[in-house]
Amino acid sequence: MALGLMINTQLFAASMAPVQSSRGMVVSAQHLASKVGVEILKKGGNSVDAAVAVAYALAVVYPAAGNLGGGGFMTLKLEDGRETFLDFREKAPLAATKGMFLDPEGQVIKSLSTRGHLAVGVPGTVSGLEYARKKYGTMSRQALMDPAVKLAQNGFVLEAGDVEMLHVATEDFKKDPEAKDIFLKKGKPFEVGDRLVQKQLAKTLKRIQHQGVEDFYIGQTAKSISISSLENGGIITTQDLRQYQTREMRPIGCNYRAYRILSAPPPSSGGVTICEILKILEPYPLNEWGFHSAKSLHYQIEAIRRAYVDRNTSLGDPEFHDNPIDYLLSPSHLDHLRSSIDPVIATPSAQLMPAGMVQEGENTTHFSVIDSFGNAVSMTYTLNDWFGARVVAKGTGILLNNEMDDFTIKLGVVNQFQLLQGRVNQIEPSKRPLSSMSPTIVLKNDQIVMVLGTPGGSRIITAVLQTLINTIDYDMTIQEAVDAPRFHHQWVPDVVFAEDYALPPDAKEQLEASGYTIKPSRLANHMAAIMVGGARLSEVKPQSRLYFGANDPRRNTGLALGQ
Ligand code: GLY
Repeated sequence: MALGLMINTQLFAASMAPVQSSRGMVVSAQHLASKVGVEILKKGGNSVDAAVAVAYALAVVYPAAGNLGGGGFMTLKLEDGRETFLDFREKAPLAATKGMFLDPEGQVIKSLSTRGHLAVGVPGTVSGLEYARKKYGTMSRQALMDPAVKLAQNGFVLEAGDVEMLHVATEDFKKDPEAKDIFLKKGKPFEVGDRLVQKQLAKTLKRIQHQGVEDFYIGQTAKSISISSLENGGIITTQDLRQYQTREMRPIGCNYRAYRILSAPPPSSGGVTICEILKILEPYPLNEWGFHSAKSLHYQIEAIRRAYVDRNTSLGDPEFHDNPIDYLLSPSHLDHLRSSIDPVIATPSAQLMPAGMVQEGENTTHFSVIDSFGNAVSMTYTLNDWFGARVVAKGTGILLNNEMDDFTIKLGVVNQFQLLQGRVNQIEPSKRPLSSMSPTIVLKNDQIVMVLGTPGGSRIITAVLQTLINTIDYDMTIQEAVDAPRFHHQWVPDVVFAEDYALPPDAKEQLEASGYTIKPSRLANHMAAIMVGGARLSEVKPQSRLYFGANDPRRNTGLALGQ
């Protein structure tokens, strides 16, 4: 506070003004984790240091999605101009097989890919955080993990939002003896004002603090994860953990109007799909058509529907599959998709079903960080479902992911996000499942103007997309853009999911007359966004280091905090 300017003035009527700072900014899904990040920035750490500390802290104070036992992605834009991307997504264990979640008749065994140890992919988070810290950070592991160790050791007082999250998994916690001891209070759900202490997790964090990745991937933690897995129906061996490596790659980039979008490449579908939708929409005057007018909604939904067909059928882990990214973003493919949109009538999703594709029938966390030097980190990581597979590796306090469900478990069968996915995302040993996570950074003339991302499974892509459109086409402040009601479509199911007030009544009526099925949407996202140089893009001053943070009001645990 003493060093930086931090104001929270009410500039606009529709939304709160974004939180403003002339130094760094952290926006995360849990207020204690945002504070940890800002403390690291105050100590002189850069945004990678702050991101690593926030990620370890979230593993303690946001156990639904913050994690050691999951995986994720980090998009970076450094003040020296470098752009890069870290992939520490979970991998299928070496013993995984295409049909591992099917019974002898070839039918999906209910809940096997979503609950319990067989649902767990080999975790990547600790590898990713250490990779980022060593290559791009400036501070010691000791310093960056200290806040998380203290929060686990001493506990923290649960507020309403924390308790709401824990209650989501009460019945599953009761079934897992390790989870029960930690996340229930003598078998009963925690209440507001209780203190959540995680002694085992504190011990594990301390071991990682001293031994780094060696502990998690070779040492005691690796052994505990493997023993726990093999004793409880899982297949993760110490060899799986020993082999795990973070991958560094180029982010996906595309231009939309005057801006350059940097986002997640495969094994995420996020960057490619966001770019494909934006490029389909680029020739259309969305601003002139008006925010959420029937016409602008129609073209956005049709663009989204078409891009999700490509997402669901043609993207997968680049180590196993040659992703046709150039083709998907080529002018000829985009022209073809555009020309297939009827100006009035909704295209039935079944009409877009690729030959050979059959049809039977959110829970992640994101944070955005920027420092006073101009380094930006956009990071999304996850256990997949809230609290993942809802099992804890014995003796470690680590909740394990259920990322195996992001694979195509059986052709024609949807996953927990109702995504109908294709052959290229089928299970293979050591493969990473296709993701929707989209940690994104937006540039103008190579200057950072936005850092954003969100949880929400398949709804991540449409939430990031709409935040981009709200800021770029409609010039909303970053907070207005985050607050604005959202809609979602993902090709299958053929439904427009709309948050309250997302569709004005006359637009809704027109869309229904065009053939759309519209249903209410749950609040799936928790956007964490920062704008640089102004509260809205038309006010951005080049070279300005004023930061404007926006926390999504849809969940009441997060915080945008300036340095
Ligand atoms: N587990 C959600 C995703 O990666 O998209």
